[in-house]
Amino acid sequence: METALTRLTGVRYPLVQTGMGWVAGPRLVSATANAGALGILASATMTVDRLREAVREVKSRTDAPFGVNLRADASDAGDRVRVIVEEGVKVASFALAPSAELVAELKAAGVVVIPTVGARRHAEKVAGWGADAVIVQGGEGGGHTGEVATTVLLPQVVDAVRIPVVAAGGFFDGRGLVAALAYGAAGVAMGTRFLLTSDSTVPDAVKARYLAATVRDVTVTRAVDGLPHRMLRTELVDSLERSGRTTALLRAVRHAAAFRRLSGLSWPRMLRDGRALRHGKDLTWSQVLLAANTPMLLRASMVEGRTDLGVMASGQVAGVIDDLPSCAELVDRTMTEAAQIMGALSAGSASMRG
Ligand SMILES: Cc1cc2nc3c(=O)[nH]c(=O)nc-3n(C[C@H](O)[C@H](O)[C@H](O)COP(=O)(O)O)c2cc1C
Repeated sequence: METALTRLTGVRYPLVQTGMGWVAGPRLVSATANAGALGILASATMTVDRLREAVREVKSRTDAPFGVNLRADASDAGDRVRVIVEEGVKVASFALAPSAELVAELKAAGVVVIPTVGARRHAEKVAGWGADAVIVQGGEGGGHTGEVATTVLLPQVVDAVRIPVVAAGGFFDGRGLVAALAYGAAGVAMGTRFLLTSDSTVPDAVKARYLAATVRDVTVTRAVDGLPHRMLRTELVDSLERSGRTTALLRAVRHAAAFRRLSGLSWPRMLRDGRALRHGKDLTWSQVLLAANTPMLLRASMVEGRTDLGVMASGQVAGVIDDLPSCAELVDRTMTEAAQIMGALSAGSASMRG
């Protein structure tokens, strides 16, 4: 199936596996790429050296195009962009808004730039900077998320910008793909659905928690890092929401120290990143410190399998997903279902005309 997204990125199918911290590593990304969809490596939870290694690992497993997700507000974003350019990565994806300078640098090097946005004005802004396409994430999506549902945000953004729009938040099958195309999208991007595949390295005990979840078990909380964050409701989330400011701050300081060791960032660099995170937002320093919670709490579940100590970021779709296909099976059945539905729809409209 050819759309503006497949033409832009060179992938076979208009499906994207999004960048998810600790989840979207070389194994998942190369399995996605080999299945004909666009896999995106999550780099915010990697050091710059580890990112280069991970990119090379993907390249050793597939010749298909893939992408790297990064945070424009990280103080080493420039180093990460250099890795993307030097290693010939096809697509750069941004969590949060990129900067005009980084977009220009990537585009000058021939990299396709696809930021993720959660609001129409952000889509208009990045389109003005020359982004090649946008992923628009509705409020039902996993991880940091907004309030507006995909069914409202998607047509709003499609009408507002002239670049291809990829729909995210709540997609898991061929029906969703056809619906997104009907809204004018060029494809769909899925996070939770790709996390729940046999190719994902997330520990089995954690996958089991997602599979057991109902739609009502997925919640949005600010208790982890001060920002609205969609995840599975667990005892940890309940206790974070109950704990006072001091306990939360102490915990955040501990996690900040641990993340600093893992990410290889120095304290001055982390403080610079913190200042960038505050910029233009109404965040206090304690909220910035709390933000250091996220990578560590996500790691505890996604890498260490601690369902009791970790945060399990999740879209509402976890409540309707109950299996673990391989990426190849997932892509194949999504495309087959979409083709059947489009065939049935056009047969239906032909018989209505007749
Ligand atoms: C476990 C998990 C981790 C995530 N980490 C990131 C991240 O590091 N960067 C990012 O841009 N988005 C991240 N997200 C958001 C996803 O990239 C994607 O936009 C979202 O999952 C789409 O909604 P869906 O889960 O309904 O498919 C994460 C989502 C999940 C479920």
